[in-house]
Amino acid sequence: MDIEVVTGAIQAREDELIVVNLFEGVDMPGGATAAVDQAISGTIREAIADGDFRGKKGEVAVFYPRGAIPAGRVVLVGLGSQDKFGLQVAREAAAAAAKKVRELGVPSFSSVVHGAGAGGLEPEAAAQAVVEGTILGLYRYRELKNEEPDRPDPETFTLVEFDAEQVEAVEAGALAGLIVAEAACLARDLVNRPANYATPTDLADVAMEIAAEFDNMRCQVLSEEDADELGMGAFLGVAQGSEEEAAFIVLEHNPGREDLDTVVLVGKGITFDTGGISLKPAENMDRMRGDMGGGAAVLAAMYAVGELELPLHVVGLVPATENMPSGRAYKPGDVLTALNGKTIEVLNTDAEGRLILADALAYAARFEPKAVVDLATLTGACVVALGRGVAAGLFSNDEDLTGRLLAAAEDTGERLWRLPLYDDYLASLESLTADLSNTGGRYGGVGASAMFLQQFAEGYPWAHLDIAGMSFEDRPNSPRRPAHLQKGGTGFGVRLLVHFLREWAAA
Ligand code: BES
Ligand code: MN
Ligand code: ZN
Repeated sequence: MDIEVVTGAIQAREDELIVVNLFEGVDMPGGATAAVDQAISGTIREAIADGDFRGKKGEVAVFYPRGAIPAGRVVLVGLGSQDKFGLQVAREAAAAAAKKVRELGVPSFSSVVHGAGAGGLEPEAAAQAVVEGTILGLYRYRELKNEEPDRPDPETFTLVEFDAEQVEAVEAGALAGLIVAEAACLARDLVNRPANYATPTDLADVAMEIAAEFDNMRCQVLSEEDADELGMGAFLGVAQGSEEEAAFIVLEHNPGREDLDTVVLVGKGITFDTGGISLKPAENMDRMRGDMGGGAAVLAAMYAVGELELPLHVVGLVPATENMPSGRAYKPGDVLTALNGKTIEVLNTDAEGRLILADALAYAARFEPKAVVDLATLTGACVVALGRGVAAGLFSNDEDLTGRLLAAAEDTGERLWRLPLYDDYLASLESLTADLSNTGGRYGGVGASAMFLQQFAEGYPWAHLDIAGMSFEDRPNSPRRPAHLQKGGTGFGVRLLVHFLREWAAA
């Protein structure tokens, strides 16, 4: 979809369809909505007065101006109540409007920047949110479908800004929104892509393709043999049961730039998690193709970092492998030796994510980073604690890093909730045969997983995001699910990471 920005009055816009908005509880629209309403002889006010349109969040109505203005259709989208308004609502409103436009089969449409007027949002941030919502709302996973969709996607989307002085800010926001949303769609594709397509080798190919797009990005894919020479026994323990060759992906933006701050992103890349010998139940096991959601977010964020040319040295690490049961698979009770020399007793082969992350976190130390952030669909316990699609768990040993991540979560609407790193959780990982075991008892499973990771995140500020409940959307349709999310992969973490890095680079 082409994204354009123009200055002018939306009611004069020569396009097939224009989008304006309305807050809940407003009888007399103002701004652009009032201008359109006047031009189409009060039709919008009539719909409000009759109670047909209330301005509820995500509510959409279509009006037909019949020649009164150049546009053939007006879409009115609700913004909900003023006091709950923010970027998140602007994003959702844009998504709801875009979905309606596609439903109508209209190939080209224009919209006001929701929130930049009466909403009181910064025009740049609002434009970014509107573009993100539009692209994310229209997202569909179609890679393996033969039939063309019933309704094609709109081809052109134009943001119309009345105030000529704000156009530059709107353009900047629209461009950032396009980059970040396309990155999030890439992460969604990778999560949705079946595990027989999205193999570790496929993820490595995607990483190579990303690196090839930018002069200052480098990709190195470590093979199982390379990992063995390095001593990544934990990663290889998980990989040994699979026929698919594992890959340890290293993507580097601005390599060798020692004048820049180094931030390492680590993403869990289990392309399919059967549980291994500690086999998972059959029900819904297909969703475990999404167990590389953290890795997908890291690869996609690296793409955005390259596009945005961030003045940072950013490293993306994705240990990628399947977790399979087989005659060669690792077994409960086996002891593995990680890259940092620590020995791990595998009490449950389904606690594989922390094993591959152990080696990745130990590997991260060689970059002497200012911060390391890992993202992983790590525990069902985190989903039990915080809910499906509500918030990711955040664990960190550093207050400054925690503050930056929580701020990014607030700004992007990709929620994080901090959980504690108590030593009690570590005590539950005591092992008879090794330095520690990979699972604790029945209780506090998310804390135990984080304390396990902390044993390998040595020598740098570190944060762990447990995104198990956030990466794959399976809640029923709206209103429970925001309009910019679809069933399947969400791309969670991409907008968060990119915002976190942009703010870091700007400071
Ligand atoms: N990939 C799963 C966690 C998961 C669960 C992700 C639900 C997404 C949705 C992880 O590898 C796993 O199996 N964790 C176990 C750990 C347990 C064996 C200590 C779990 O949460 O049950
Ligand atoms: Mn598992
Ligand atoms: Zn897993």
